[in-house]
Amino acid sequence: MLSRKCLMSTSRGFWIKSLGHLVVLSSLCCFISGHSERKRTDDLMSKYPLIDGHNDLALQLRILHSNRLSQVDLHNISKVATDINRLKAGRVQAQMFAVYVLCGAQEKDAVRLTLEQIDVVRRMCTEYQDFELVKSAKELRDSERRHKIACLISVEGGHSIDSSLPTLRMFYQLGVRSMALTHTCNTPWAESSSKLHNVYQRHNNSLTHFGKAVVEEMNRLGMLVDLSHTSWDTASAALKHSKAPVIFSHSSSFTMCNHDRNVPDWLLRDLKKKHGLIMVNFHSNFISCSNVANISLVADHFDHIKKEIGAESIGIGGDYEGAVRFPQGLEDVSKYPALFQELLKRNWTENELANVLRNNFLRVFEEVERVRDQLSLNRPSEVQIPLEEVHNPCRLVLRPPSPRGSSIRSVPSRAQHETKGALVPAMALLLSSLVFTA
Ligand SMILES: *[C@@H]1O[C@H](CO)[C@@H](O)[C@H](O)[C@H]1NC(C)=O
Ligand SMILES: *[C@@H]1O[C@H](CO)[C@@H](O)[C@H](O)[C@H]1NC(C)=O
Ligand SMILES: *[C@@H]1O[C@H](CO)[C@@H](O)[C@H](O)[C@H]1NC(C)=O
Ligand SMILES: [Zn+2]
Repeated sequence: MLSRKCLMSTSRGFWIKSLGHLVVLSSLCCFISGHSERKRTDDLMSKYPLIDGHNDLALQLRILHSNRLSQVDLHNISKVATDINRLKAGRVQAQMFAVYVLCGAQEKDAVRLTLEQIDVVRRMCTEYQDFELVKSAKELRDSERRHKIACLISVEGGHSIDSSLPTLRMFYQLGVRSMALTHTCNTPWAESSSKLHNVYQRHNNSLTHFGKAVVEEMNRLGMLVDLSHTSWDTASAALKHSKAPVIFSHSSSFTMCNHDRNVPDWLLRDLKKKHGLIMVNFHSNFISCSNVANISLVADHFDHIKKEIGAESIGIGGDYEGAVRFPQGLEDVSKYPALFQELLKRNWTENELANVLRNNFLRVFEEVERVRDQLSLNRPSEVQIPLEEVHNPCRLVLRPPSPRGSSIRSVPSRAQHETKGALVPAMALLLSSLVFTA
């Protein structure tokens, strides 16, 4: 690949015909320098293979193949940008795979769908020798020595836990090590950056009491708190509340492109204070605020974020399979090296890039595990969301009537409060009497 510098000196040489041999010499020199940049990139990425924060392959497997893994060869999948061959070509050593279910499933079957997405990622990562499911920073490091592609599982959107800490804990047991507090819908306890869904509108309560309990429980379990997709208020509140560093697993710079999925500088500075990480998203619409972009514009986001908070706060969260449009030259997961070649050209040091490629993520993951160890004497949280904060007619309530007043009178008063109908409290009364006589 000829750099712009090469083209300039080549055309200058063209005008100086008498020095034709110099043209040859300069082209050769450019060829060698382009070659050496490629070689430097190659050396760098084989020494520090990439950890990427966000990929939605599991969503595509559901959409294109109804999760029937037997229908595809994960080495080479058509109609997607991610497969084992291209992950290897792109020197991706670890991938956080999102288990994402659409916001439309909130308060319907979000928990089942999330379980099914966890199942498909676990199958992918255990049925193929090239992959390895990892659940700790140590396993992640070990997988690199074994030349495996490590899979991490992340839940994308708090609606997946249906406002239940026991559900969060069971996801952890299945290998989930990260959760984004929201996707494009508000949850009953946290606020999204998106206004797409008109649910759980709030004015001044971006992370509720229950939302704080979710963050605390994630700290206790050792799960990464992911703030991509949350509103800035929620991100700010979660940053303040979390005992461990937090991440934006796939967001870019708001100064460079003022999209509400990107992070403003003031929030980046708070993130840095907390030793957190922003993993830059490649989606063209978040890079250039338009449908087209290129590597140089992506590199501008990196330069800007480095200037604001330093290379030690930056990672990569490509968002392949989730986003639809990618910059020229970064069309699929085999293309990551092109970005690192550009950053080397912009005089990023190898140490800075080693941090961006993997060391920053490992540092944050290990710090999250350290906080978990410090909290190891804490009991699992028994905080429950107040019923009036969830508008879910599907919730079956198994508990005795409210202690306020007599149990008979408290039921109709809740029925008046709940416009959804008296059936739920009536069922509650019926079932609670069954349970408590059993
Ligand atoms: C992937 O499969 C297609 C046909 O389905 C083939 O043309 C292509 O060469 C394959 N690529 C690799 C890297 O195996
Ligand atoms: C927002 O809520 C906080 C406490 O939750 C309160 O201190 C603050 O005054 C409220 N601000 C507005 C504008 O209502
Ligand atoms: C990338 O895109 C920007 C904006 O369209 C343009 O100014 C710039 O020249 C492009 N850079 C390269 C290397 O193509
Ligand atoms: Zn996303």
